[in-house]
Amino acid sequence: MPSPAQTEAVQPNPVRYARQGRIGVITVDYPPVNAVGHGVRSGLVAALDAGLADAEAEALLLVCAGRTFMAGADIREFGKPSAPPTLPQVIARLDGSAKPVIAAIHGTALGGGLEVALACHVHVALRSARLGLPEVKLGLLPGAGGTQRLPRLVGAAKALDMILSGEPVGAEEALAIGLVDAVEDGNSPLEAGLRAAERLLAEGWTPQPASARTGRIAGTDPTLFTAMRAELTKRQPHLFSPHRIVDAVEAAVTLPFAEGTARERELFLACMDSPQRAGLIHAFFAEREVAKIPGLPAGTPTRDIRKAGVIGAGTMGGGIAMCFANAGIPVVLVDNAPDALDRGMAAIRRNYEATARKGRLTAAQVEDRMGLIHPTLSYGALADADLVVEAAFESMEVKRTIFRVLDGTCKPGAILATNTSTLDVDAIAAATGRPQDVLGMHFFSPANVMRLLEVVRGARTSHTVLATVMALARRIGKVGVTVGVCYGFVGNRILQQRGREAMALVGEGASPEQVDRVLTGFGFPLGHFAMTDLAGIDVGWRIGEERRKAGDPEAQTPSWLDVLAERGRYGQKTSAGVYRYEPGSRTPIPDPEVASVIGEDRRSRGITPRAVSDVEIRERCLYAMVNEAAKILEEGIAARPVDIDAIWLHGYGFPSWRGGLLFWADREGLGKIAAAVQRYHRDIGGPQWCPSALLLQRAADGQPIGC
Ligand code: CAA
Repeated sequence: MPSPAQTEAVQPNPVRYARQGRIGVITVDYPPVNAVGHGVRSGLVAALDAGLADAEAEALLLVCAGRTFMAGADIREFGKPSAPPTLPQVIARLDGSAKPVIAAIHGTALGGGLEVALACHVHVALRSARLGLPEVKLGLLPGAGGTQRLPRLVGAAKALDMILSGEPVGAEEALAIGLVDAVEDGNSPLEAGLRAAERLLAEGWTPQPASARTGRIAGTDPTLFTAMRAELTKRQPHLFSPHRIVDAVEAAVTLPFAEGTARERELFLACMDSPQRAGLIHAFFAEREVAKIPGLPAGTPTRDIRKAGVIGAGTMGGGIAMCFANAGIPVVLVDNAPDALDRGMAAIRRNYEATARKGRLTAAQVEDRMGLIHPTLSYGALADADLVVEAAFESMEVKRTIFRVLDGTCKPGAILATNTSTLDVDAIAAATGRPQDVLGMHFFSPANVMRLLEVVRGARTSHTVLATVMALARRIGKVGVTVGVCYGFVGNRILQQRGREAMALVGEGASPEQVDRVLTGFGFPLGHFAMTDLAGIDVGWRIGEERRKAGDPEAQTPSWLDVLAERGRYGQKTSAGVYRYEPGSRTPIPDPEVASVIGEDRRSRGITPRAVSDVEIRERCLYAMVNEAAKILEEGIAARPVDIDAIWLHGYGFPSWRGGLLFWADREGLGKIAAAVQRYHRDIGGPQWCPSALLLQRAADGQPIGC
């Protein structure tokens, strides 16, 4: 081997080997996140061979170039045959290396990336690094020794906690639990790794690989696993991989390393074959795909958003102001009623303090965030805002008046957004002399929690404004999805179809509990009526009352839900709605009073209740959604199926292991759905069951509607 202190790289990218003094340095350089794909795997083996053959290398250092350590296996390779060397083969080579291997971690070491690090003999992390095994979020388990090595380093209980949550830990915590051996300051993993390697050699230390350690797993209480299985059955009844994770970690403490690893492999392959894996990976890429907007030229310039404004200090406006403050963006909160402003600010403070009580914010962070929100009664404070979101009362007249004022107040180039959930964004934009700067930012309640943001592109919204708001969505931690203008946009328009069927089914004889049981059985966290109670029945009732008073011919006659609202049963906030709630509890309890209101409603409509099957409930609630989604695609309100999938995943609790509404529809069978839609159209009628031409066409052609 060459002798100069700094050798030439002997491996081409994505992995190169070079020596610095007596340390052989293996560098993975595979942007953007150094995913451990086939090229990286074979590169690692070749670089390890080079390092072992390099007589002057006394220890080997594994580092990554770019913004992060390896962020996992290459997810794009999943579902395809794995070309050798496989990840377990690479990892076995590192583990068995005759020379000590040090991993120096920066950015995020995730999944297969952390498993590579765990197979190294010493682990050093930069203070800013984060380490985790997020496979559970993709329907998998760590299948390259992670379930066997992690417990040996941190103990079975902590390993279960990390692997089942999929959440990474910071470097400090990693040090405290025994996952890393040292935490280093600075920005260079190479420098930190070289320092650690030199220390190791100077101390003459022969580190023991994790696979050979048993101290942390000896004497593990076996009831840990029984208790965890019971909890999972209760908490995540639908999910496949968490139970296999418990089995794998149990194998780590009950079997010798080689047998435990073989058991882990079997369990990993079972997860890989599960449809949940395909769904969760679709959901992972959907979240990223929606940021790429068809027709928006690459390199479209964006505007700087350094100061924001929000109009309306109600629940929605307050939540939106928090989104900006959470991202460090100063925000002016405007309301025309002093008491509403005070109430709004008090609600924001209560919200932050509740988060602090849960340990997720410090007292100082609460004050910092409150300090970024400036309440005012004056629109003048918006003069230098870069973006204003209007979250006022849902009335076209009110909104157009506000936009006229904003147009006269805000500086040229300021973006004016409306949070309307139903009104025509183009009509609102027309109230201004700058429709190119106007669009919708449809947040979901609670706005500071829900990740979805529908970005409503008006007919005249400019590319720059759209690109700016999509980038802002990411900055404030939202999944921004671009949609077109129509009543209810994408999410609520689909929800309305489900709601209509849920109500009709109860009218015909189902109980709200039966409808909700079918929907939670499908995987929604809440059934339709439990969700109605959470959102509040009074909102829809009040809108309906206004319309009825105004003599609107399209206003529906009051439903049994309206009768509940008339009786003051608004939902969770009054401890009674479609269900009743014990004080302080969110568990819905069926209530005979509601059954009698429903019975009375049926009698008044001359309906004799019939037994409704679970199958009918499932079909009518879900297929009506698919049919509407297909119409939304036909009309171009959503540009791609993946946009609809992301909206329902992030705004409405669609089960992520089913991939998304249209991804699921293809697996359910488009032919089956199309036939049922036609049948319900014939038997029930109504515009909602009028079949989408796109749905019928795709079903007839045997083509998917999702992707
Ligand atoms: N494989 C392939 N591509 C990946 C990837 C992976 N593991 N992780 C990220 N990417 C891609 C993204 O799709 C994105 O691509 P585009 O730019 O083309 O959209 C790009 O890398 C950048 O990703 P983000 O936009 O997410 O960047 P970020 O800086 O916000 O986040 C990250 C970076 C924290 C690493 C985040 O991407 C992430 O969490 N990735 C997934 C990590 C993961 O789940 N790893 C485990 C994989 S499973 C495994 O490893 C098990 C096994 O052994 C078989």
